[in-house]
Formats: sequence, structure tokens, C-alpha cells
Amino acid sequence: MNKANNQSKKIVLTGITPSGTPHIGNYIGAIKPALEMAKNPEFDAYFFIADYHSLIKLWDSKLRQQYIYEIAATWLALGLDPEHVMFYRQSDIPEIMELNWILTSVTAKGLLNRAHAYKAAVDANIAEGEKDEEAGITMGLFNYPMLMAADIIMFNADLVPVGKDQIQHIEIARDIANRLNHIYKCNLLKAPEAMVDKETQTIPGLDGRKMSKSYNNTIQLFAPSKQLRKQVMKIVTNSQLPEEPKDTTECTVFALYKHFANESEVEALAERYQQGIGWGEAKQTLFEKMDELLMPMREKYDYLLANKHIIDEYLAKGAHKARVEAKQLLDKLKQQIGM
Ligand code: ADP
Ligand code: TRP
Repeated sequence: MNKANNQSKKIVLTGITPSGTPHIGNYIGAIKPALEMAKNPEFDAYFFIADYHSLIKLWDSKLRQQYIYEIAATWLALGLDPEHVMFYRQSDIPEIMELNWILTSVTAKGLLNRAHAYKAAVDANIAEGEKDEEAGITMGLFNYPMLMAADIIMFNADLVPVGKDQIQHIEIARDIANRLNHIYKCNLLKAPEAMVDKETQTIPGLDGRKMSKSYNNTIQLFAPSKQLRKQVMKIVTNSQLPEEPKDTTECTVFALYKHFANESEVEALAERYQQGIGWGEAKQTLFEKMDELLMPMREKYDYLLANKHIIDEYLAKGAHKARVEAKQLLDKLKQQIGM
């Protein structure tokens, strides 16, 4: 799997921050499309757990540990094959941190001043009338896109499948790679491209807004059946009576159903909407479909979480393989910059 800089296959790389229990939005919007790309023989896939990124959002050690295992178990339960995919934990690859510093040293501060998460934090302070507009903003939050750039550049990634909110970060990584190449007159670092799937970029949550743990509107991916049903029943619908014909286009239940059911099942539900369907029945249909599809993966997920040593072994092997490649690029880069 050694490709540093002379690979024939394109490299697809993405990471997930372990800062919450995986939800349906993470699955449909990020993990499922990434795993589909990994099956494509034109790509080599690198999927990792961005645990250093979680330090910025989460300061609870026990929860972090739990989320790291949950994200790892999720990737594996959904079909990631660690024999074919480079699967590792960011903090197991210290080379990323070294690269991070080298990249930091050529990056204009202004580039990160314009990053949207930082700007949003400043704007929120201003809106709240804070005297210090930087109040509560850590250097971690400010440097977040920097570390992402190191994650991506470390493995010569060509394509980075991400949600819409992350596109700017990939553009920042591109700028940084090009800048270092320019400064040190080399062509060592690959400039990555973001890949966003229009169909799955915004999976709606319980209240119809984007499903996100920040909005507290998620449906947990591997909640036990009973809990899954409870969550599905909480989806906000309008106050139309059961017999009234219903619009499928603005309906969260229908939007979610489309991602789980096949074409003819989707058509059949659309017809029921046309004829008039009670919201309870629509939600029950969605729940049953989701439960049926998720059940085998949920069993695998529960098994892995009950047997964490299996996850540990996969991650240790993945780290070992990934470090070999990371070291190669870092050695070349250090040589190039005169170290
Ligand atoms: P959250 O918004 O719940 O904090 P994250 O930011 O941790 O989720 O997202 C992890 C991955 O899942 C990212 O690639 C993100 O784009 C994707 N993702 C999260 N929520 C959704 C959603 N509702 N629709 C599509 N993709 C999503
Ligand atoms: N910032 C991403 C998120 O919150 C996670 C992430 C970290 C990532 N490093 C990355 C994604 C590198 C793609 C590539 O979703």
C-alpha cells in the first residue's frame, strides 16, 4: 500500500471527530458515501478518527474515550474492511503533529482569520455584547483548519468527502499545500479537493433543520429498536389530518425514508401520501424500514463495543501501516526544508 507521491490510484481520505454518538446524518452524509468510494478500485481509502480535533469541542475524558470507540465501531459495523482501508486514530500518528507545525510556519494568519468557525465564534461574542470579541475562543478552535490540513496533506489525499460545512477547510488545506510547495520550490505536497454529494449533504433532523448534535435533533444510528422507534415518533410534522393528501417534498419523514427504502417502496409511500396517510403510520413505516436495515449492523456494533480489544487491534495495525507512509513523506519534507 505504499504510494507516497508516486501512487497510481487516487487517494480518498476523511475523518470523523469523536465528539458525540454517531447519528443518521453522519451515516448517510459522511460514512456511507465514503465506504462506497472505498469499494471503488480506482481509489485507496484512508478513514480515521480525528481524536485530536475532539479536544477542541470536548473536555470530558471519559466521554472522549467512549466516542472514540463508538466511531470506530460504527465504521467497522458499516462495513469498513481494515485490510483494504487505512483505518487509524489521528493521535496514533505523531507525524501529523510534526507536519502541522511545518505547515503552521508557512501559513498566513489571515487565512485562518477568515475560517468560518472562528468567524462565527467572534460574531457570536459581538452579538452577545462581549467586551472581548475573542472571549472563550481557544487557539485550538483557531487552528482547527490547520490540523485538518495536516491530516489531509500527510497522506497525499486527492479527494476529501465531507459535508458542506467543511468545504472551506479543504480549500484552506489546498492553499497551504500550494504555499509550502511555492516557498520551498518543490512539488512535494498534494493539493486536495473536497467532494460533496448534493443528495446527502443535508440530512434533516427531528425538527427539520440539519440533523446535528449541536441542535439536539438527532436520531442515533445504533439506538436499540425501542429507542429508535421513540426517536422516529418525535419527528416534527404538520397538523394535517390523516385523510388529507400530503406533500412529500417538505417532509422530514419522507426525506429520511428515501435514504433507506428502494425505488418502488419510495413510490408506494409517495402514493400513500397522495391518498392521505396519518403521520403515525408514516413514521411507523419509516421506523420499520430503518430498523430492518440497521439491525444487522447494530448487532455488529454492539458486539464490537462489548469486545473493545478487537477495535484496539485494528487501530494498532492501522496506525502501524499509516505511520510507515507518514514517515516517508515527513522525511522527504524535512530534507526539502533543510532539517
Ligand atoms: P454534527 O453536526 O452532529 O456535530 P459532525 O460535524 O461531527 O456532526 O459531522 C461528522 C460528519 O458527518 C461530517 O462529514 C458532516 O458533514 C457529516 N454530517 C453531519 N450531520 C450531517 C447531516 N445532517 N447531513 C449530512 N451530513 C452530515
Ligand atoms: N473536521 C471534520 C468534521 O468535524 C473532521 C476532520 C478532521 C476531517 N480532520 C479531517 C475531515 C480531515 C476530513 C479530512 O467533520
